Amino acid sequence: MTFRPFAHALLAATALVAPIDAQAQVQAAAADARAAALVGQMTMEEKLSLLHGTMPLPFFGDTPIPEGAIPGAGYVPGVERLGVPALKETDASLGVSWVAGLRGDGATALPSGLALAATFDPELAREGGAMVGAETRAKGFNVLLAGGVNLVRDPRNGRNFEYLGEDPLLAGVLAGESIRGIQSNRIISTIKHFAFNGNETGRNFHSTNIGEAAGRESDLLAFQLAIERGQPGSVMCAYNRVNDVYACENPTLLSDVLKRDWGYEGWVMSDWGAVHSTEALLNGLDQQSGEQLDREPYFGRLLTEAVAGGDARYVTRVDDAAHRIVRTMISTGMFDDQPQPGGVIDFDAHAQVARRVAERGVVLLKNERDLLPLARTARNIVVIGDQADVGVLSGGGSSQVAAPGGPAATVRIGGENAMGPFSNALYHGSSPLAAIKAEAPNATVRFAHGRYVSEAVGLAAKADLAIIFVGQWTTEAVDVPDLSLPGNQEALIEAVARANPNTIVVLQTGGPVVMPWLERVPAVLEAWYSGAKGGEAIADILFGDVNPSGRLPVTFPASVDQLPRPVIPGIDQPSAGLVAMGQARPSFPVDYTIEGSDVGYRWFEAKAARPLFPFGFGLSYTDFAYSDLKVEGGDTLTISFKVANTGDRAGVDVPQVYLTESPGRSQQRLIGFEPVSLAPGESRTVSLTADRRLLGNWDTQRPGWSVPVGDYKVFVGTDATSPRLNGEARVRASRIRP
Ligand code: BGC
Repeated sequence: MTFRPFAHALLAATALVAPIDAQAQVQAAAADARAAALVGQMTMEEKLSLLHGTMPLPFFGDTPIPEGAIPGAGYVPGVERLGVPALKETDASLGVSWVAGLRGDGATALPSGLALAATFDPELAREGGAMVGAETRAKGFNVLLAGGVNLVRDPRNGRNFEYLGEDPLLAGVLAGESIRGIQSNRIISTIKHFAFNGNETGRNFHSTNIGEAAGRESDLLAFQLAIERGQPGSVMCAYNRVNDVYACENPTLLSDVLKRDWGYEGWVMSDWGAVHSTEALLNGLDQQSGEQLDREPYFGRLLTEAVAGGDARYVTRVDDAAHRIVRTMISTGMFDDQPQPGGVIDFDAHAQVARRVAERGVVLLKNERDLLPLARTARNIVVIGDQADVGVLSGGGSSQVAAPGGPAATVRIGGENAMGPFSNALYHGSSPLAAIKAEAPNATVRFAHGRYVSEAVGLAAKADLAIIFVGQWTTEAVDVPDLSLPGNQEALIEAVARANPNTIVVLQTGGPVVMPWLERVPAVLEAWYSGAKGGEAIADILFGDVNPSGRLPVTFPASVDQLPRPVIPGIDQPSAGLVAMGQARPSFPVDYTIEGSDVGYRWFEAKAARPLFPFGFGLSYTDFAYSDLKVEGGDTLTISFKVANTGDRAGVDVPQVYLTESPGRSQQRLIGFEPVSLAPGESRTVSLTADRRLLGNWDTQRPGWSVPVGDYKVFVGTDATSPRLNGEARVRASRIRP
């Protein structure tokens, strides 16, 4: 699918973006003409019917599930008379969601978004997206509510596991590639949640406030890069307000930035329960999703009344919105090739995709005495904690995936708030214990669930090695109040580490956690939520079948005091949870002007704060050396250097290039990265060209990007705080349209 006005933006951007060819332009024009002809034949009632839909789940007594709808997130009837198909929508980026088993089927779970981001690998993102998209189609859905790309501004955000980290380039590139993969199945993907939806606490009420330049240089840039690469058919606007105006009726975001500046020609659908007025249509929203969750049928009865009232602005926008929806159906290929339920899914092959992402995304954080990879001579191993006998943890909420046959274990978390009944930690049936046993057939491997510290300590004291699995379950709609490991897990680690000096901690977390126990243990792996084959992937890394290559896509702070907002705004208010959708409640501010575009590592650098682990960090079982740096200037920077594997194992390295200083601005930015797979002794030259928007600054006076003439300093490093090669070059002045 091609959005023609992007051609300008694409020409302005650099090599990161594929050029639009003439054939694509012809196809776009044809889709346009065909959509215009179809919409031209529609009655007003038919057009209006495309602009709102329901959530086809049996929770809403007064809304029957429409015939032909598949239990899932959304359904918008088509126009049968003209052969326009219904939209059948399911969540989400990590797999076709489980919807509490209501469909009676399951799906392949990808590892979390942060695990994918930790691979720094656009190809894996595309492969993962293609896999999830194939399952979406096989189940008869034609829209996947994927593409979560909100930047991690707060490590306690309950949905960080659905997103792709704190950096706009990394998140934008990976989200774009994942969307490309999804849409390669001739279905539509969204990108979400537009925009600045960085916390779940009070998400339906709070206002994230940010200045224009800071917004364009951070979260909006992630969306822009992802939209250019992935060309998602739809953008889902967010629950929160932005600068006091609800995101789903925010003319600056929807009409000015998205549709005018970026030339976006897909359609904007609301998040479920995020619509607050019929005027939202005039401000850029095209479709009300899951309308039972809103207070009023804003795009149903109320919009019909507004149109009947004769206000021409509504009539024009109804035509435009209907056109956008139909054209997108055509240009993604879904119009002429409708998915049918009951498609065959090769679950074994898909599980291997999930496994590859997990293997590449696990981050080795600490490895003293080269304790890892584990020696196969270990005779007594104890595995402790977090349901490691059955499976690996997953994140909760609308993106929850479970395998066919359901979760391997369900642990009730509960709580008083509206999310309480839905708060269950689900485990995918991929047992790390079984995988470890398979790797060490000659060892005695014991298991302790870890609820009793004395029992775990007793087993650890007699073992050669103790491997502790610890978990932090996070979910949509709720932030975690702090960065500790819940329950007795920190005490468990301390006690086991005292009993056994060879204690390895495997973290299964939604995002960063603090590690007061870090000094006491020799080895730590961050396994995130590791998906359908997480147990096997973790064991592969522990035993060295796979050399770890994950790099942190998010800074791990030493404490919440280092964050721009040490206390989560609104955390003291009664939790609103799911029922809050559609309710009116007083707004409260979340002040993003504190950090502005200095999100994550940039904030730490600006404050000279030392994180626990920096962005980009991750160890390997081999060593890499960098040399031969060349930095070329001109219109942009082209950086080339040599990476060599100087150790004795094959491995993947992820060299990263950071800008540290531009004329008049000293500020760190990731401007390039590339995963490089090298055999022992092998070396390769990497060459990266910076997108000029990453060098420039947003100019509020003459809206657009301005790249000032002068010297630009960069380093090639192993993470955001570890330069290995330094260089600089002169860049010419230029401007780039918004
Ligand atoms: C979430 C969206 C999701 C939608 C439909 C909302 O609560 O924020 O990400 O796509 O529900 O399930």
